[in-house]
Amino acid sequence: MPNTRRFARRPSSRKPTLAQRADPHDCYQRAVQCVGAEIDFVDETFSAIRGRQAVRLREDFCGTANTSCEWVRRRSRNLAIGMDLDAPTLEWGKAHNLSTLTKSQRARIDLRQSDVLVEHPDLRGTLDMVLAMNFSYWIFQKRETLLAYFRRVREDLAPDGMLFMDAYGGFDALKLFKERRKIPRASQGEPSVHGFNTPFTYIWDQHSYNPITGELVCKIHFQFPDGSKLRDAFVYTWRLWGLREVRDVLEEAGFRRTTAYWEGDDDEGGGNGEFTASEQGESCASWICYVSAEK
Ligand SMILES: C[S@@+](CC[C@H](N)C(=O)[O-])C[C@H]1O[C@@H](n2cnc3c(N)ncnc32)[C@H](O)[C@@H]1O
Repeated sequence: MPNTRRFARRPSSRKPTLAQRADPHDCYQRAVQCVGAEIDFVDETFSAIRGRQAVRLREDFCGTANTSCEWVRRRSRNLAIGMDLDAPTLEWGKAHNLSTLTKSQRARIDLRQSDVLVEHPDLRGTLDMVLAMNFSYWIFQKRETLLAYFRRVREDLAPDGMLFMDAYGGFDALKLFKERRKIPRASQGEPSVHGFNTPFTYIWDQHSYNPITGELVCKIHFQFPDGSKLRDAFVYTWRLWGLREVRDVLEEAGFRRTTAYWEGDDDEGGGNGEFTASEQGESCASWICYVSAEK
């Protein structure tokens, strides 16, 4: 008699785990990015300061170009240039983000596989906004490299162009810890790869910090309801830059004015998502803010 028990168990033991089925870029976009709010902020701030609407935006360190897609969706004149070193990440963005755009929207995005430090002569003096979000510029650990990057951006901006970045800090930024956040199933219209749509836990791992060099290693892991895990889905080796120093380097690069936008409080002592220009921050456990630099 055949061993039916053994036979029956085989398929389930071969069933891929949720972590094996998950796509790290999809999880990243769902857990980390909020491109709508980011574009609202830069669009409104640029208009308020410059008295006109921005058209040409470059998303530096664009990854999957999620923000560039949001920009070209906003207005039919908007143009986006996305720049990233990593070809597979750009390809993923084309296949999963650009593919959701209309033909006319797609025609207004130009993705370039490039180091953001490299000169693109056709861009010189042409950009209304350059974005360097999710702390991506912290990849530059040396002051002279950060300065070279800011000089590159300034040269590529139009005469009234602006650079926008974010930063984080607070005394928790120096600590080694893991923070978990539950991410629900994506609702309709949100990105989710090939219909695979599972809730998961996002884990932010502040993995190491060297107080002598300022080097900070942060990791992102994802954990799924079946217990499986995508460990080290993303690993960042950064310098933990202070806001004051970033603004000093921007001024050295020739930017006329820099502004920090501090987040307001909600009723429970957290951030309320409203960022206002300010020179007075608060020494709290953790903060996130935006910075703008005007050419
Ligand atoms: C933290 S992700 C940022 C993704 C996206 N911008 C966001 O807001 O979530 C960092 C990206 O920067 C890219 N990158 C790192 N160094 C770079 C460089 N020198 N020039 C261009 N891209 C770079 C990596 O390939 C990666 O896709």
